[in-house]
Amino acid sequence: MTVKNAMTADFLRSAYGGESMAHMRYLIWGDMADNEGMPNIGRLFRAIAYAEWVHADNHFKVLKDKVGDASVAAGAVFGAGKTVDNLQGAINGELHEVEQMYPVYLNTARFQGEKGAEKSFHYALEAEKIHAKLFEEAQRAAKQGRDMKLETVYVCPICGHTVKDNLPDTCPICGAKKEMYKHF
Ligand code: FE2
Ligand code: FE2
Ligand code: FE2
Repeated sequence: MTVKNAMTADFLRSAYGGESMAHMRYLIWGDMADNEGMPNIGRLFRAIAYAEWVHADNHFKVLKDKVGDASVAAGAVFGAGKTVDNLQGAINGELHEVEQMYPVYLNTARFQGEKGAEKSFHYALEAEKIHAKLFEEAQRAAKQGRDMKLETVYVCPICGHTVKDNLPDTCPICGAKKEMYKHF
């Protein structure tokens, strides 16, 4: 799978940049949640950081034949405050991806007949919708000064689908079997 159109290639690079920064930011915020006495929220951040790595990995590999340096303009959220504020940053970032970024990238890939990019953007878009909801749930707990309730978080290594507590038999986004999911 390779990329023929410059605009889709630029969108893949930008999405790779955004996912890479989200991955790192969630690891940082996860440590901060641990230090605030919210280890479940810390674990949620680390699980979703892994999902963002999956997205970055997918975008990067669609670009495998586009070898060389490139400057990347990508959206990023900054701020390292209390966990309740960090979660707002996470929600804002996920909603930006769900409402603005990925629908535009996905429709461009579709319009340009870029099958690999279309799949990679589709996987990310569907997973980010769930991330926004999970961070909202975490923030409701954090606003009351407590940790969220959480047994296990499961992440699909193919598409980044993220689910807590009850693992489905197959991934609802990409069809991967439950045995493949990574546990956090
Ligand atoms: Fe992502
Ligand atoms: Fe996400
Ligand atoms: Fe999946």
